[in-house]
Amino acid sequence: MFVLVNLKTYPCDPVAVAEAVRDVDESTDARLAVAPQAAHIERVAETGAETWAQHVDPIEHGSNTGHTLAESVVDAGAVGTLINHSEQRLKLADIDGSVRAAERADLETVVCANNAEQIGAAAALGPDAVAVEPPELIGTGTPVSQADPDIVEDAVEAAANVDSEVSVLCGAGISTGDDVVAAGDLGVEGVLLASGVAKADDPQAALEDLVEPL
Ligand code: G3P
Repeated sequence: MFVLVNLKTYPCDPVAVAEAVRDVDESTDARLAVAPQAAHIERVAETGAETWAQHVDPIEHGSNTGHTLAESVVDAGAVGTLINHSEQRLKLADIDGSVRAAERADLETVVCANNAEQIGAAAALGPDAVAVEPPELIGTGTPVSQADPDIVEDAVEAAANVDSEVSVLCGAGISTGDDVVAAGDLGVEGVLLASGVAKADDPQAALEDLVEPL
């Protein structure tokens, strides 16, 4: 299972969480990665943790003030990027442009979507993976894998109908190993989570709990 920890803009110490991600990754068969804010990518990548960007823009080098260039996050140490997170929504043409920008820079891609229909559209753009995240469950602690298993199974089917090479993740409310196991039982290859680790008093213990049953 792939466990991708999105730090959003939570006031956690990104380096401390990254060190925990690195250490727990070394102790399990699961693959762990962390997605800090763009400004923290370099410091996080220096820990040796697998580091992802939270977003890249559909742009090239040039006059794009305030944008995030795929090549720059790679220079800072990122190996992958989220695209179209529920908190950073893009139009379809821009999702396509961001996937192409990430490919150009050799970044792995996870395109997020709200439901199975959008997952099908996202999979058609050829990312490495898609992630279904019902917005109403994000940050609630109520796990999508247990609260809305149908949306996860429908997303797995929708992606497979479009492109069987595209992996499917799910996210929202996931914070325990049982949640991750339930997600795996629904057919996903990984989970995307944030508050269960970024807001935990002890992120390392939270990560250990997440991968313990894997
Ligand atoms: O990107 C992961 C995310 O949106 C889920 O957040 O806090 O419900 O794990 P959370």
